[in-house]
Amino acid sequence: MKDLCLGIESTAHTFSAGIIDFDGKVYSLINDIFIPEEGGLHPVLIREQHLNNFMHIINKALSEAKISIDKIKLIAFSQSPGLGPVLKIGAWVARMLSQILEIPIIGVNHCIAHIEIGRLICQIEDPLVLYTSGGNTIVSAFESERYQIFGETLDLAIGNMIDSFARDVGLQHPGGPKIEELASKSKNYIPLPYIVKGMDLSFSGLYTAAKYLLRSKDYDNKFNLNDVAYSLQETAFGMLTEVTERALAHTEKKEVLLTGGVAANQRLQSMIRNISTEHNARFEVVPPKFAGDNGVMIGWAGILRYKAEGGHTVSETIIKPKERMDKITIPWRF
Ligand code: ATP
Ligand code: FE2
Repeated sequence: MKDLCLGIESTAHTFSAGIIDFDGKVYSLINDIFIPEEGGLHPVLIREQHLNNFMHIINKALSEAKISIDKIKLIAFSQSPGLGPVLKIGAWVARMLSQILEIPIIGVNHCIAHIEIGRLICQIEDPLVLYTSGGNTIVSAFESERYQIFGETLDLAIGNMIDSFARDVGLQHPGGPKIEELASKSKNYIPLPYIVKGMDLSFSGLYTAAKYLLRSKDYDNKFNLNDVAYSLQETAFGMLTEVTERALAHTEKKEVLLTGGVAANQRLQSMIRNISTEHNARFEVVPPKFAGDNGVMIGWAGILRYKAEGGHTVSETIIKPKERMDKITIPWRF
């Protein structure tokens, strides 16, 4: 058996343990997702759930992989970016296991992990990446030793914006799939604010305008919730597509990778597939199991860095809630 890494994801709603070997073979993946009874994602409530469940999740991952914990040779954990109180749980669990098992530990940037698991699972070499999730909206590609950010949101992340709108109309978290379902029943586009500034995006004006539509005198008369959901998606995804296409033209990459939880959306997939085809680029979408937050991606990104640079000392494993991925070099790619 190859050396195995246990990857621990704990940046936001998901506590996840994934086991993957040093050649990239996945052994197991177990997730525990916090779903709020009402309101948004409260860090303290998430932290409590993760604290209550972490050992159970890790044990399930070990039993699914059919291995005992002494077979693990490296612990990787999500060190950045994310919610401070939640990041601390993963960091604490990883430090504890690394010291008990006397094995190396490595901290991982969550956004880089999303890209690396996509490259592994989709067998794609050097893509332009559109990473769309609850907490992130980033267009990135590898250039000058780093994953450079070509465009990003200036305010709300796309997933968070859609989830907030869904919550406003009484739909439970996560709202993304429910809004996709409603949108698929309409073709009635109502103009909404389309805000692209340079290569960056802004979704807060769009969110507010969509909410106002629900209170307009024409609501339930000239248009309904399906039409608003459709218009919200078309506008937001149109913005994402424009920025991705411009980055593709600029970088001249020959591959496009769509990832993050929102990548599950069929309409977004078809828009990004279309521009990829127009630019003669191969298009791949990361399957939902590996596109959403997961411990396997943390394990794989940890293995890549560990092979290139060795492990971290305990003092280097301090969490970095605001760390940007374009600040970090990617030594395994140069
Ligand atoms: P990150 O920490 O990387 O920002 P995250 O914590 O938001 O990620 P993910 O699992 O990557 O977690 O993404 C969850 C998001 O994906 C939620 O906002 C959810 O509504 C959205 N989502 C899931 N399925 C769909 C869909 N079919 N259409 C649109 N959005 C979707
Ligand atoms: Fe994520």
